[in-house]
Amino acid sequence: MCGIIAYQGVHNADQRIVEGLKHLEYRGYDSWGIAVATATGKMHRKRQVGEIGKVSLKSLNLPEAHIGIGHTRWATHGGVTQKNAHPHFSMNKKIVLVHNGIVENDEVLRKELRKKGYVFQSETDSEVVVNLIENYRKKVSLKEAVRKTMKDIAGRNAIVVLEQDGKELIATRNGSPLIVGVGEKEVYIASDIPAFLEHTQTVYYLDDGQMVVVQEGKPQFFDLTNGKKISRRKITVDIEPEQAEKGSYDHFMIKEIMDQKETTRKAVDQNERQLMEVAKMIKKAYGSFLVGCGSAAAVCKLGEYIFSTVANKHINAVEASEFRHFFGFLTSKSLMIVVSQSGETADVIEAIEVAKKKNVKIIGILNNTNSTIGRLADYVFPIHAGQERAVASTKAITAQFVVMTLLAYAAKGNVLEGKRKLVDVASQMNELLNPRYEKHIQRIARVLKNKEHVYILGRGLNVPVAKESSIKIQEISYIHAESFAAGELKHGPLALVTKGTPVIVLVGKDDTEDEMLSNAKEVKARGGMIIGISPENHSVFDHWLHVPNVGDMSYMVNILPVQLLSYYLGIMKGHNPDKPRNLAKSVTVK
Ligand code: M6R
Repeated sequence: MCGIIAYQGVHNADQRIVEGLKHLEYRGYDSWGIAVATATGKMHRKRQVGEIGKVSLKSLNLPEAHIGIGHTRWATHGGVTQKNAHPHFSMNKKIVLVHNGIVENDEVLRKELRKKGYVFQSETDSEVVVNLIENYRKKVSLKEAVRKTMKDIAGRNAIVVLEQDGKELIATRNGSPLIVGVGEKEVYIASDIPAFLEHTQTVYYLDDGQMVVVQEGKPQFFDLTNGKKISRRKITVDIEPEQAEKGSYDHFMIKEIMDQKETTRKAVDQNERQLMEVAKMIKKAYGSFLVGCGSAAAVCKLGEYIFSTVANKHINAVEASEFRHFFGFLTSKSLMIVVSQSGETADVIEAIEVAKKKNVKIIGILNNTNSTIGRLADYVFPIHAGQERAVASTKAITAQFVVMTLLAYAAKGNVLEGKRKLVDVASQMNELLNPRYEKHIQRIARVLKNKEHVYILGRGLNVPVAKESSIKIQEISYIHAESFAAGELKHGPLALVTKGTPVIVLVGKDDTEDEMLSNAKEVKARGGMIIGISPENHSVFDHWLHVPNVGDMSYMVNILPVQLLSYYLGIMKGHNPDKPRNLAKSVTVK
């Protein structure tokens, strides 16, 4: 959440920063800003509300400078205004800062600073941080001032600081990601690698409690607690810049939906030995938990069902944001399986940190394996989905479904059966992802686009798919979408159905099929409009979205038409499907 980029090097800082911010926009796009310090010791700042996407460098009219910081914001403290946009100056305007995170004791610190005469220009907690630094700076070096400030602030945060003399960049993190990229006579500090990937693939990961000082194009690392120098390992990352481009597609979301032709198959390629080893641990564990947020939480729920049906094993799926209510059940015999595309989700990281203190082994099902979670986990299953840029997760979800399924088959003791079935499903999924099918989806989208509510029903393995479907429709179309276990319908939700209420039913080709269809009839009898997702057309359907018959793996294919439907609903309603309002791709605050 929020994108940070800082630069020092031989090239023009404004060019490198603006370019980096455009790559980081998926982390937040409420407002953006940039500050550079010239060789003559003058600071220049530009900030704007809105997306940086279409802003030209020329229009900023910034002077030549070789050091600077930039930020693209997802608002936490204070509304979406220019005044609240980063970078923030300290009161004497000699220090400027970009910040990602939430300062939990912001009010107390603000009051103390006010007593010392500080006046604030914005409503942000970030301005509190920069003024704390200014206050300490009166007596100590900038590095020491930053170190003392980090001790004062509570919460998960990352900051980059620049002083007017433009001699150094100082950055530090405690709970929010920062990566240092080192190129030819240049250094980048960013919240994610794509910010500088075009220029270098050589990185240092900054861990919590560490600090980097960049002077004359060289980074030096320090321990935040004692200020002592530490060494960090240089890593060459294996990410191709073009993976992050949308090619001939209008949006990343549709490109990533189509990518599933390859990514689902790729996800099947998992290290068999590791699958078996982890499966053995799951079977032996006393209390295993599946933990994730949003769509990843839906994947966890699906895992709960798959483990039960395939391996006869109960695992508890818990949303990471709620996990603290279950901390008490963690012991050294427990196991935690975390699911995350970004590997940076704050609530998941917090659950892991608590679990690790209790010696719980962590298994990560991750797309970004170099992420914070990737580095915290004891075992990592990479989902091989390639970079996912659209805020709405699509190809990562189906790839996570695949890995979850493989783990369950490994726990059953027949990983090869799981692999064989999944390879077959992957090839059948390809049938759907074609222009003719898209045209059909567009027709259904036209039927739904002016509806206020859409309900999605599933049974068994399709209950979590219904949940994931509701998330997709909500975030892209802004239509109220809600999912229910179909059997729960007559216990309340059926009262919502009136003439023409759209209800999507996800039919599983398993022992839930008949009951699902009779629930659809109950809805239809009350005037509901049934959109059936099924291999066969049934008389109860008003509209039919065909999917291939993949037997008990219907969860793999039933999500595809809903992904496409969400995309076209978003397009028809004039939204940008890649950047839904109020959201960001990587949720690094709680
Ligand atoms: O990066 P993560 O998988 O940990 O992200 C979790 C959720 O924030 C994410 O799945 C979110 O719900 C997506 N926008 C859904 O499309």
